[in-house]
Amino acid sequence: MKVEFYGHVRQYHNIKSEIDKNIQTVLKSGQYVMGPMLKQFEAELAAYHRAKFAVGLGNGTDAIWLALMALGIGPGDEVITHPNTFFATAEAIWIAGATAVFVDCCPDSKCVCPEKIEGAITPKTKAIIPVHLYGQCADMVAIRKIADHHQLKLIEDNAQAIGAHGPKFKIGQLSDAATTSFIIQKNLGTFGDSGALVTNNADIDAKVRKLRNHGSNARNVHSFGFNSRLDDLHAGILSAKLKHIDEYNDARRKWAARYTKGLKGCKTIDLPVELKGYRHVFHLYVVEVKKPEWRDQLVDFLVKNGVDAKTHYSIAIHKQAGYPWGKQARIVGSVANAEANAACCVSLPMFPELKAEEVDYVVAKVKEWDKQFAAQAPVGKGPAQAGKCCCTCK
Ligand SMILES: Cc1ncc(COP(=O)(O)O)c(C=O)c1O
Repeated sequence: MKVEFYGHVRQYHNIKSEIDKNIQTVLKSGQYVMGPMLKQFEAELAAYHRAKFAVGLGNGTDAIWLALMALGIGPGDEVITHPNTFFATAEAIWIAGATAVFVDCCPDSKCVCPEKIEGAITPKTKAIIPVHLYGQCADMVAIRKIADHHQLKLIEDNAQAIGAHGPKFKIGQLSDAATTSFIIQKNLGTFGDSGALVTNNADIDAKVRKLRNHGSNARNVHSFGFNSRLDDLHAGILSAKLKHIDEYNDARRKWAARYTKGLKGCKTIDLPVELKGYRHVFHLYVVEVKKPEWRDQLVDFLVKNGVDAKTHYSIAIHKQAGYPWGKQARIVGSVANAEANAACCVSLPMFPELKAEEVDYVVAKVKEWDKQFAAQAPVGKGPAQAGKCCCTCK
């Protein structure tokens, strides 16, 4: 059997008529950039988040640095995040000209550790960017308190968790802005690139709207800006898919539960942890091997057996060759949890259109691999989940 990592072609076939209808509407409208379909999708996206504003953008990276720019954050300012996220989180800080400050993640959630943030704040700190990694929210209540106490801006990098929430908060509710990516493989993904920013702040909305369009919101009238617009064809595809996002996330949760039930007895891996009261939307289902040398062995074994396994993200940002490329960066304290996450992560296929027999096949193959190494497995949690954490995720 072959089990793919992504299912967007299946998804297209399942709702083809809805997607095709919107594409036809755009094509026939003659308005392909900043047209009515973009307006409609922005209204739908804002409503989905129960937020006042949503701005469609070229991609999720631009959404982060445009948010920073709209907040006046740039050279000389420090922005705190964690190093076991997708590279773009830090890249956006650097594009804005600011200093990326890396602190550790929590060993359970893999999201930034609030208490480590507290320890990294200096007079230069201007913002925090928590990432809702793998589809589970960071502890926004704790992070909001820190931001309030130190008067910091808060941008949620929500590229991976649309539709997730915490026990007492929704995405976008506790921050200045939440940014997202709609690249193909995301929980809400189009057939190409695009992104968005969601906010309740009219000033951020107005500034980003101008910045994305050459500093213009009236014909021939410009200030300095860029070209980072979500075009109407992609807006149409996203509008069709947004109507299904909750059902897609429910399906991801169902497959995650099936993986977890099937893999529970494995001795060589730790399974993903859903924090109490959180809705994890499993952008990725990431197991962590209990010995780093097993990571690539497990991936190779699965790939050889037809299962397209991957790693997210096997090189932490500060371990990339050439880091920090002449940019400003600082690591505060130990980032051992983030490094162990990188060393041990293996992502299993995860998309709403998976079939039960595919999930069961993946489970069977992981168990087959586990059996070979079970006798060598350390007792208790492996390095990625055994790490210390001083905050609420434990
Ligand atoms: C956590 C995170 N942040 C930012 C991005 C950047 O989004 P994009 O690729 O649309 O620029 C991505 C995804 O690619 C991501 O996963």
